[in-house]
Amino acid sequence: MSVPDSVSLLLNRALTEQEYFQAATLGWMIELLQAFFLVSDDIMDSSITRRGKPCWYRQEGVGMVAINDAFMLESAIYTLLKKHFRSHPCYVDMLELFHEVTLQTELGQLCDLLTAPEDVVNLDNFSLEKYSFIVIYKTAYYSFYLPVALALQMLNIATPKNLKQAEDILIPMGEYFQVQDDYLDNFGLPEHIGKIGTDIMDNKCSWLVNQALKIATPEQRKILEDHYGRKDSAHEAEIKKLYNDMKLEQIYQDFEEKSVSSLKEKISKIDESEGLKKEIFDAFLSKIYKRSK
Ligand code: IPE
Ligand code: MN
Ligand code: MN
Repeated sequence: MSVPDSVSLLLNRALTEQEYFQAATLGWMIELLQAFFLVSDDIMDSSITRRGKPCWYRQEGVGMVAINDAFMLESAIYTLLKKHFRSHPCYVDMLELFHEVTLQTELGQLCDLLTAPEDVVNLDNFSLEKYSFIVIYKTAYYSFYLPVALALQMLNIATPKNLKQAEDILIPMGEYFQVQDDYLDNFGLPEHIGKIGTDIMDNKCSWLVNQALKIATPEQRKILEDHYGRKDSAHEAEIKKLYNDMKLEQIYQDFEEKSVSSLKEKISKIDESEGLKKEIFDAFLSKIYKRSK
């Protein structure tokens, strides 16, 4: 919905049927890209549920055919793009944008996976700098920059200046969104988020473990070393208890307020002279502020 919403805000009016169709098609192409990443991600993360149902690879009769299904979901993007945008002046730019954002996401997923080896737990591998790289690449480009960049391209106002301003605000916004995802992995309710958290057992370089490492006493660090990244729910329970003792929920809430005020500050400085609109970013931010799902 971020594509049609952005297009409508950029035009400052409701969309015609044809405009809505185009914008919604671009939105669905992002959904296909997301489905491609999530089907693969759930296999790699050994996840159990997604959107309240067993992950696709865990459905009866699917199994590892899900890998090929993921490739086909990706292919469908380019089938739709060709079918509906072949004669659009930005066709090649859209094609290149999808390719570039796909590579960026794959680089983020690569770093996420390499930082979370299954058999060796080494907390020294984690850092907030590495965290920031992982989440900008694996999440922010495709979830935040891509919909707005496509909306600008659809309307032929994707100037270098507009794209750069959009990127400068949407990348930190996407970083904040993935911090929320990491927070919800442990503190969220499965019936709200539609999935069961796996970050502790998966040894992930999550925002929560990085915050815990930053303030841990030597005794608390020992608990992290002894129990993090083990495929066993008794170990996981020790970490969950530690996160509660360390009041990570409060640290998260403080971080959320700080992030939102810094994003609002950035939004207020946007230059609208080439057709960009501050409201796009306000709308995006209000969709995610204090989300619980
Ligand atoms: C994966 O991040 C992001 C992509 C699929 C590109 P996560 O592994 O944290 O996502 P969830 O929690 O499984 O949805
Ligand atoms: Mn995952
Ligand atoms: Mn997650």
